[in-house]
Amino acid sequence: MKTAIIFGSSGGIGHQFVEYCLAQYEHVFACTRQSQSFKTIDKEGKGKLHLMQLDPSSETELQLFSEYLAGREFNVQLMINACGLLHDDSTHIAPEKKIEDFNAESFEAVIKANALITPLIAKHLLSHLNKGAKKCQSTGVFASLSARVGSIGDNYLGGWYSYRASKAALNQIIKTLSIEASRRFKNSAVVAIHPGTTDTHLSEPFQANVPAEKLFTPEYAIKKMMAVIENVTLDDSGKFYAWDGSLIQW
Ligand SMILES: NC(=O)c1ccc[n+]([C@@H]2O[C@H](COP(=O)([O-])OP(=O)(O)OC[C@H]3O[C@@H](n4cnc5c(N)ncnc54)[C@H](OP(=O)(O)O)[C@@H]3O)[C@@H](O)[C@H]2O)c1
Repeated sequence: MKTAIIFGSSGGIGHQFVEYCLAQYEHVFACTRQSQSFKTIDKEGKGKLHLMQLDPSSETELQLFSEYLAGREFNVQLMINACGLLHDDSTHIAPEKKIEDFNAESFEAVIKANALITPLIAKHLLSHLNKGAKKCQSTGVFASLSARVGSIGDNYLGGWYSYRASKAALNQIIKTLSIEASRRFKNSAVVAIHPGTTDTHLSEPFQANVPAEKLFTPEYAIKKMMAVIENVTLDDSGKFYAWDGSLIQW
């Protein structure tokens, strides 16, 4: 039973990954802290949607999810972490324009949302991906949504300290995990991917100066990213991709 697991499925990008996967996988787990709904449920009987209300930064909840999967016949072949945080009005989190804007609490919240979840998912669920891929003689792919601004080599503009640092930390975790996967989870590839500027809640306050042709719909971004993800091989593990398949320097 070919299975995909999507974290951050309440988000603009995560939601669309679920919609896409429903047409391609027999089972799709849509994981978020919120309640959620989808317009495509079991479309043409091809997909079976499992709505999971869980907090991916909770080890207890991930452990329970792992135990649930362990007793069942799901062949996990794809895991995507689409969780992320750039701004939050309710907690006054906003990307810093200058160092005086830096705030310890905001930094911790941004690090938690952007860098903590991927290693926790890997700790509890990467073995399921590897097992599913091995059984199906395919490459299991664990893709995490990063951001070009997390590239240290590509940083020419400055600003956005917390978000940049959190995605740079995520990138280092992905690179490190890919090395361990090559030894211990040999049927799995671990990659980072930048979606391009995509029209979601996260990018909404920053869209004013983005040319129309560079602001993607979630449908377009996911179509492009899945074309990359679906062609990832074991040799590609540890790469940082842009939405069009080009590589971004760390
Ligand atoms: N949109 C863009 O232009 C753009 C550009 C570059 C990179 N990205 C990256 O793409 C990913 C998806 O972004 P998006 O545009 O879809 O954003 P979004 O619409 O704001 O969705 C964000 C998702 O992250 C989850 N999330 C946020 N904080 C969390 C936390 N502390 N713990 C667990 N889940 C948390 C939310 O889940 P809850 O509902 O449970 O809060 C939501 O599902 C992010 O990693 C983002 O950095 C986006």
